[in-house]
Order: sequence, then structure tokens, then C-alpha cells
Amino acid sequence: MAELVNIFEREFARETIFLDRNLITPHFTPQKLLFRDKYIGEISGILSKTLHGEKPDNLFIYGKCGTGKTSVTRLVMQQLLEFASAKNIPVEGNYVNCRNHNSKYRILSKIVKDFFPEEDFMGYSAAFVYEKLLEHARGKEKAGGKHIVLVLDEIDKVKDLDELIYGLTRGNDEIGSSGSISLIGISNNLMFKDRLDPRTKSSLCENEMVFPPYNAQELTEILRQRTGMAFKPDTVEESAVCLAAAIAAQESGDARTAVMLLLRAGEIADRRGSGKVTDREVMKAKVQVEEELVYNMVSTLPEQQQFVLYSIAVLSLTKKPQPKITGETEKGVLFSGEVYDEYCKIAKKHKEEIVSSRWYREYINELEMYGLIYTTASGKGIKGQTTLIKLGFDAEKIKGLIERELIEQN
Ligand SMILES: Nc1ncnc2c1ncn2[C@@H]1O[C@H](COP(=O)(O)OP(=O)(O)O)[C@@H](O)[C@H]1O
Ligand SMILES: [Mg+2]
Repeated sequence: MAELVNIFEREFARETIFLDRNLITPHFTPQKLLFRDKYIGEISGILSKTLHGEKPDNLFIYGKCGTGKTSVTRLVMQQLLEFASAKNIPVEGNYVNCRNHNSKYRILSKIVKDFFPEEDFMGYSAAFVYEKLLEHARGKEKAGGKHIVLVLDEIDKVKDLDELIYGLTRGNDEIGSSGSISLIGISNNLMFKDRLDPRTKSSLCENEMVFPPYNAQELTEILRQRTGMAFKPDTVEESAVCLAAAIAAQESGDARTAVMLLLRAGEIADRRGSGKVTDREVMKAKVQVEEELVYNMVSTLPEQQQFVLYSIAVLSLTKKPQPKITGETEKGVLFSGEVYDEYCKIAKKHKEEIVSSRWYREYINELEMYGLIYTTASGKGIKGQTTLIKLGFDAEKIKGLIERELIEQN
């Protein structure tokens, strides 16, 4: 009789070129962040006021995805809190990812829960939770207050941001001078700032910082630093590192993409049992990573924007190719107006609120910024001047993805 072998035996014994796979995932933040000393210096300069008992200015950081905003901020915050705690200086901090906590109430509840872990705030009103936070900053009578730095990452996801910022800014007047609440807002969205209410903008953007994309050389260095930690010696060819960096630099200058490329290339090498990451594995990984990125991008879009993108995908699949003046035809070219009509129809069918055409145009701009669509002005023609829209990725795939994400859930 054949011996029964545990099904994990083979997996467990499988040879791998990874030393520690975790170190080459985008979740890992190295202690040494390359090419960001200038920003680390500026942010710590602003926050150092807390160490002298003063309220620092609020700070707004923006820049494309994967430019190190989250990593840099977390690193500086970690060092600030370590330093303050070692010197017994009353400084506290809290990090909130607003993608997971997307309203004033949820954000304040999360923060207060972290500050008072033994208490339960379930079901308490927003006003109560807000008071609790002010009380924490004000401190107990003689003990004096605390300077609190709140990091609101992906701040563009907050639905009632104006109220949140207004509340927190006004809170400072009630706390008194021995304590304060200051904010670091972070956003991947380059246009978000221009959409802010003027009052919110002037409070949040007392200081502003833009993180630029990395170039191919910088990405090569970042990847070299990681491969040394994550892979066994001599398992990643130098040319593969350069190729991954070049691809990421060309697409977006995004360190996350660069890291993902090497991670997936390593997995492909393991699967093939080739023991080495070469250009070939990186090229294969490119296809996979691109899909993952699009998937991620689409699934984190606000619902209304998903509906707009969905309308574009649906129309791209159903509309007849457009005849051009040259006699050729072009597939998948849409008029902005017909996309808006389709969007209204679909949103209505799903009993969603319909955004105005002004907002719709904002959404179109953003979808283009993310590389999900292309647009161009039509020039004067039969329909007058209009915007032409074309989907940047496979329509079938985008449609399927949004159907799974959105429509089945509603
Ligand atoms: N300067 C850097 N040096 C080393 N790794 C970096 C650097 N910038 C970004 N990374 C890595 O890239 C990934 C994405 O960075 P992240 O800080 O999340 O970017 P953002 O918040 O701007 O989208 C993380 O794995 C991070 O560790
Ligand atoms: Mg981030």
C-alpha cells in the first residue's frame, strides 16, 4: 500500500530563492528610506515644535502612489514618539488610514479608541467622542496638556472632510495653550487639493509638500536595497533589477510597482524551479503586476466613479466603431455626452444618486490621471466641440471587475 504523505510535505520542501519574502512586499517599510532625506528633514522640522510645547502647523502631503509618502510619514512619526517618550515629553500621535475609516465619526472613534483602549465607545455620539479627544489633549487639571499629531492617510476618502477639519481646528481654541491637535493629511490624488473648500484648504495646507516620482536610477537603488534582504545571494540578476526599475520608472515612478515586479518575478522563478530571477521572469511579472494594479485602482475608486468607468466599459463593448474621415474606423471611441447619458441610466437602475455633469467631468479627469482612460478634444465636428474618451484597458475585464466589486454588492 502506498504510504500516505501529508499534502503540505511537497510545498514545505519546495526550494525557494527567497530569504524572507515579506521584505519584498509593499507592506514592508525599510528603516532606511532612500532619496527622501529632504522631506524627512522638513517634516521632522515641523513636528519638532511639539517637543518644545508648541503646536506645529498642519501639513498636507501629496504625490502619486508609491512615492514614499506613507513610509516617510510613518517613519518620522515613529521616531518622534520614541524620542518624546524617552524624554518624557507629552507628545502623542495616531495614524488613520481613511480608506478604512472614511467619515468624521469613524475617524474620531478610531483615534479615541486607541487613546483609551480600556473604554468602549460603541454607540456614543460623534459629539461625545470629539469631546473625549479634546479632553485627552487638554489633560488632567495639573498635569497639563498633550500635543497630539494625527496622520490622516488617504484623506481624500473622507466623506465629510470639511466638518472633520473644521472640528479639529476649532478644537484647538478649546484645548488651551498647553496642548494641541495638529494634522498631517496625505493624498495620492494630485487634484484633490483644488477641490477643497477654501476654509478647509487654508487650515489643512498651512504647509504643503509634493513627493515626486522616482526615476529609474533611484528605483534601481531602492530595489537593490530590498533584494539584498529578501533574496538569497546570487539569485537575482543585476539586469533583472535594472529592468524592473526601468519598467516602474516608465509607467509611474512608483516604488510599489517596482517592488511588486521583483516579488512576482521571484515567485515565477520559484514555480519554474529555475533558481534565478532574470529579465524573462521580470517580463512575465509585468503582465501580472499591471493587472493587479488596475484591479487595485478600480476597486478603491469611489462608487460613483466606478459607475462612470463601468459606463465607459459597457459602451466600448456595445458601440459600433466610429467612421473616420479617412474612411478607417476606430473602435471604442466614445463621446463624453453619451458616456454621461449611459452613466445616468446605469446609476438610476442601481438607485444611486446621480452626480452633476460638472462632477462627472471631474471624475473623467481623474480616471485619466490614473491611466484608466484616455481623453482628447474632438475638434470642431458634427457634434460641436466635445471630449472623446477611450478606455485604457480591456473593456471586458474592467466590466467584469466592477460587476463583481459593485453591482453584486448592491
Ligand atoms: N525611498 C524609499 N526607499 C525605500 N523603499 C521605499 C521608498 N519609497 C517607497 N518605498 C517602498 O515602496 C512601497 C510604497 O511606498 P509608500 O510609502 O506606501 O508610498 P505612497 O504612500 O506614496 O503610496 C513601500 O513598500 C515602501 O517601503
Ligand atoms: Mg500611501
